[in-house]
Amino acid sequence: MPPLSQDSPEQILLRILGRLQNRRGLDFREYRSTFIQRRIQSRFLSVKLKENDYAAYESYLATHQEEWDILFDTLTINVTEFFRDPPIWDYIERNIFRPLFSRPHPLTLWSAGCSMGEEPYSLAILAYEMSLLSVNPPPITIYASDVDPIALAKAKAGIYPQKSVLPLPSKRVKLFFTQEKDGNYKILPKITALVRFREHSYLNEPFVTNCQVILCRNSMIYLAQEAKDKALHNFHKALEVGGLLILGASEVLVGNAYDHLFDTSRIHPGVLRKASSA
Ligand SMILES: C[S@@+](CC[C@H](N)C(=O)[O-])C[C@H]1O[C@@H](n2cnc3c(N)ncnc32)[C@H](O)[C@@H]1O
Repeated sequence: MPPLSQDSPEQILLRILGRLQNRRGLDFREYRSTFIQRRIQSRFLSVKLKENDYAAYESYLATHQEEWDILFDTLTINVTEFFRDPPIWDYIERNIFRPLFSRPHPLTLWSAGCSMGEEPYSLAILAYEMSLLSVNPPPITIYASDVDPIALAKAKAGIYPQKSVLPLPSKRVKLFFTQEKDGNYKILPKITALVRFREHSYLNEPFVTNCQVILCRNSMIYLAQEAKDKALHNFHKALEVGGLLILGASEVLVGNAYDHLFDTSRIHPGVLRKASSA
């Protein structure tokens, strides 16, 4: 059989990613190429094509329109959990929320790359608990955004399988969830009411400003350096001076390229403070 295309795998990959951007608005050419290649090649095997056969996969996409959505979903990894990485949540409670909740100033928090909602709902649960302990609790708005509409739809529904809820202390499960007839757990309106979901890429202009805290955890690891710079500038723009950006446990910034934007000294690993001079 003659080859389907004379183009190199790299050229075909860029073409596929360009078409995906036209359909879905997100440019995966801004992500790390090794990550993209690994993920896309997992699709080749799933649709029974040879490893590395980019030309055959491009033809497959042309005749199987549903594959574009599956590809998009494959490139956005949605793994998440409630109160993921417990030490950072202890830090948020003690060192960030306690001082913020001791004053009535309205709070704006943003979970960027929120996946299926476990992270913003964890923020909302903690904020709700802190409000009960405060004499004069501040009004709270938690924004939560992701590029993946499938993950966002699950987040908005707020329904989770038992295994997602099981690691939570039973007190939190009783106070913040109700069990459905099918055994799943639905998060209660007193928590969902605090969270506003939105389809958005943090590589685009931020839709919110003057945030006290932004969480962007376990999402930027897939970005190429230039896109990471763009994301960090956008988060800088969205924070109030002195506001905090919280990255994932393994995402500590190396070097001093961002010193003009963020102060990382004397703070917790992965927590950056918007510098006052920038
Ligand atoms: C591994 S999940 C992390 C979820 C959560 N932050 C956590 O740490 O548990 C990464 C999420 O980032 C989202 N994502 C990837 N690129 C994004 C972008 N440019 N803008 C917004 N969300 C993005 C993916 O769709 C995915 O849901």
